[in-house]
Amino acid sequence: MDTYQILDIESQHTSGVYAKQPLAFVRGQGASLWDSEGNAYLDCSSGHGVANLGHAHPKVAAAIAEQAGTLITLFETFPNDKRAALMAKMTTLVPGLDRVFFCNSGTESVEAALKFARLSTGRTNVVATMRGFHGRTFGALSATHNKKYRQGVEPLVPGFSHVPYNNIGALEKAITDETAAVILEAVQGEGGVYPAEVDYLQAARELCSARGALLIVDEVQTGFGRTGKMFAIEHSGVIPDLLCVAKSLAGGLPMGAVLIGGAVKNLVPGAHGSTFGGNPLVCAAALAALEVIETENLPGQAAEKGAYLMEKIRAIQSPVVREVRGVGLMIGIELKQKVTPYVKALQERRIIALNAGMTVLRLLPPLVITYEQLDRLARALGEVLNSSVEE
Ligand SMILES: Cc1ncc(COP(=O)(O)O)c(C=O)c1O
Repeated sequence: MDTYQILDIESQHTSGVYAKQPLAFVRGQGASLWDSEGNAYLDCSSGHGVANLGHAHPKVAAAIAEQAGTLITLFETFPNDKRAALMAKMTTLVPGLDRVFFCNSGTESVEAALKFARLSTGRTNVVATMRGFHGRTFGALSATHNKKYRQGVEPLVPGFSHVPYNNIGALEKAITDETAAVILEAVQGEGGVYPAEVDYLQAARELCSARGALLIVDEVQTGFGRTGKMFAIEHSGVIPDLLCVAKSLAGGLPMGAVLIGGAVKNLVPGAHGSTFGGNPLVCAAALAALEVIETENLPGQAAEKGAYLMEKIRAIQSPVVREVRGVGLMIGIELKQKVTPYVKALQERRIIALNAGMTVLRLLPPLVITYEQLDRLARALGEVLNSSVEE
């Protein structure tokens, strides 16, 4: 199929909920994507933060192929070698989080964590943060702040409130003896790339413990090396009761998980579940992905490459840049004007970037991106942020 055919079929039959780009990609490797005409693009989106290991990592591809010929599906009531190995591995990643629930996406991991918090505490209320994004199913959407995602589908789940992020006083006021959980991102991603301050996360931990609420940290976007550590909570030393992960967990296959601490109670058979959750195919992929993350030291690579790129971006003198923020290879460039024309201008230079809201240009490249590719990205950013782009 050529590009025209692909775009035509997708535009005719799409549900309509995606703003389709005029590009069709058919192959990927490392930080490169190839369109249907054979043109190479530099992917600085990683499929919204999924491809931390790069596209088509050979070790993940081999693990998937081998497991696909062995056993693809098995409901979690029946134990399995790959799932057991993954459980053993994942529960070594964060001290004290020694149980795990498997699901299939980020929003499902948040949904599970919210249910676990209500089940565990017998309380109903949840304190979330302004600008926070946690997914699009009803529970996760209730924790998500931006009206854009909520309009037209309300009423949502009762009991949710939103407080300003990085504001300890507001959090202190909001947590009551009806609060089941506080949920927040370690770095707000969709909301505009705002890292949590260390003392804020520490205060959230202390307040939750003191008042009998659980702390849920959503690391769906920040997990698995993205911010220069395996998990972004390591920058503060805070350990939540429930840690939500997904995106790059299985090297690109759909998988989510909740890591669960000792304070979480009442998780009994039937309280929650998932048909596909923890199937042997995704578990084999995740085992391979975690091995690659560790052996290739992807968190270390993200820290070094992120610092390198950040320095280059900060050196760009541009009248349209308001602020540059980020941690590791999760970088936001806040502009004084709308970001979409700049995303388009980068696309014309064969670089795929993301927006976060109306004015933030977001970069989430694969952690395996090369220094040569980072230089190319920085050069293109310098050009684009200093050219007049069409609104
Ligand atoms: C922090 C955070 N939580 C949850 C989600 C939802 O993940 P999914 O799209 O896999 O449901 C996202 C997606 O971008 C996210 O960034």
